[in-house]
Amino acid sequence: MAWFEAKNIRREYRLGNSVNVALDGFSLLADKGDFVSIVGRSGSGKTTFLRIVAGLITQTAGEIVYGEDPPPRIGVVFQEPRLMPWLTVEQNVLFAFLKGAKRDIPFARAASLLEMLGLSDYRRAYPNQLSGGMAQRVALGRALCYEPELILMDEPLGSLDYFTRRTLQEEILKLYLLEKKTIFLVTHDVDEAVALSRRVIIADSGRIIGEIPVGLAYPRHRADPEFASLVEHILSHIVG
Ligand SMILES: Nc1ncnc2c1ncn2[C@@H]1O[C@H](COP(=O)(O)OP(=O)(O)OP(=O)(O)O)[C@@H](O)[C@H]1O
Ligand SMILES: [Mg+2]
Repeated sequence: MAWFEAKNIRREYRLGNSVNVALDGFSLLADKGDFVSIVGRSGSGKTTFLRIVAGLITQTAGEIVYGEDPPPRIGVVFQEPRLMPWLTVEQNVLFAFLKGAKRDIPFARAASLLEMLGLSDYRRAYPNQLSGGMAQRVALGRALCYEPELILMDEPLGSLDYFTRRTLQEEILKLYLLEKKTIFLVTHDVDEAVALSRRVIIADSGRIIGEIPVGLAYPRHRADPEFASLVEHILSHIVG
């Protein structure tokens, strides 16, 4: 039995009198420690799929099955950081724990995550004092602080400039290799998908139309001809 299995997921949205089928037989298997990127045109159902896995919405049909009991803890990172403006950087990272008893708050873990993400000097800062890339790093820290086994990222770097994106791609890779999480990453950036993931799946009209394994060793080099040809190969699936 696979660690994660999405079986034939269907999701309909009602739009007035008509029905919009966002997912139509979407199936995916993943092992623990896998890094799967999901690419595909706008409207192909990528966000809908992540939202179902996260439990934010329910599927119309099909099921998500986990090979382990209890099912994994899930952390989510969205395109925008969605930080709480009235909380400091450190409090945002600890957000999931703030309602509990003070002794249960993982301050040490938050501190080491902030260190790893280069945010130690900003732990008392507020979100409006941060750059976009820093805020996105806080969102990453918040997702990781919760110690998820499965991390869902929906275009987490989409709003950032090229250089910040490249730096954060390295951060994500470092965290993946260090913490051995399972990651599903939705991205429009095929280059990013090839740099980071072990497999790239291509979504189209609510189903998966292709799956391309990325066999290159980490860290990957964009100048490597094999890297470039994988990117081209994936793009040809999306465009063609
Ligand atoms: N709340 C909603 N109500 C109605 N239709 C929706 C809703 N959310 C998504 N859809 C529809 O479902 C389909 C899939 O949307 P989804 O957001 O999953 O696509 P996506 O692949 O994430 O696209 P993008 O790359 O633009 O983020 C689209 O046709 C969209 O219009
Ligand atoms: Mg989306």
